[in-house]
Amino acid sequence: MIKIVPSILSADFTRLGEQAKAVEAAGADRIQIDVMDGRFVPNITFGVQAVQRLRPLVRIPLEAHLMVEPAEDFIERFAKAGADTIIIHQEATQHLHRAVEHIHLLGKQAGVALNPATPVAMLSEILDRVEMVLIMTVNPGFGGQAFIPDTLRKIRQVRAQLQQRGRTCDVEVDGGINRQTAARVVEAGADVLVAGSAIFDAPEGYLAAIEELRSSAANTRHGG
Ligand code: DX5
Repeated sequence: MIKIVPSILSADFTRLGEQAKAVEAAGADRIQIDVMDGRFVPNITFGVQAVQRLRPLVRIPLEAHLMVEPAEDFIERFAKAGADTIIIHQEATQHLHRAVEHIHLLGKQAGVALNPATPVAMLSEILDRVEMVLIMTVNPGFGGQAFIPDTLRKIRQVRAQLQQRGRTCDVEVDGGINRQTAARVVEAGADVLVAGSAIFDAPEGYLAAIEELRSSAANTRHGG
């Protein structure tokens, strides 16, 4: 089952609560909160309060995508704020194994993200311990960027390694995901699609936009 995850970086910051409820009602499976510190990525966005305030408004899971460094300094705060999944970047910590263990000790799901130039091999010693791998399909920091086709190879590699290890684990993609690219990433092995501008900027509205992403992905699944 393909999951669609709106990322609120592209939402209207003056109406975040309303828009979170609206995408939930439109069939979103989860919501991603893009946390940026202006150091790991060249942009600053949300803090812990965004998770705290959104948590009671929706029932679907919240995933905190921590584009911050050092990642371990922020895990506990976002876990306690109500994030269900904490996604940290492999590039943002010297102690990835310890950070993943910490996320689990807090009772949360652990995701590890790779920037476009980071090889999948960097996950070899942690792949058996996480519930999600996030392959960034743009350079993190901004919404509305163009999809990087080279990342398709990485999606295939992660999916193949999970299959070799007999593991079930979300393969999530994030950046430039829309009706054209959704089909390509699903074909490569992704099963969770994060989309910001393709949903929040969609003239046809959230319901149609989410359905559009789902149908193009479903179409690929059956070789349509
Ligand atoms: C990029 C963010 C993405 C971004 C996706 O740094 O992590 O989640 O919001 O936006 P689109 O889907 O517009 O590329």
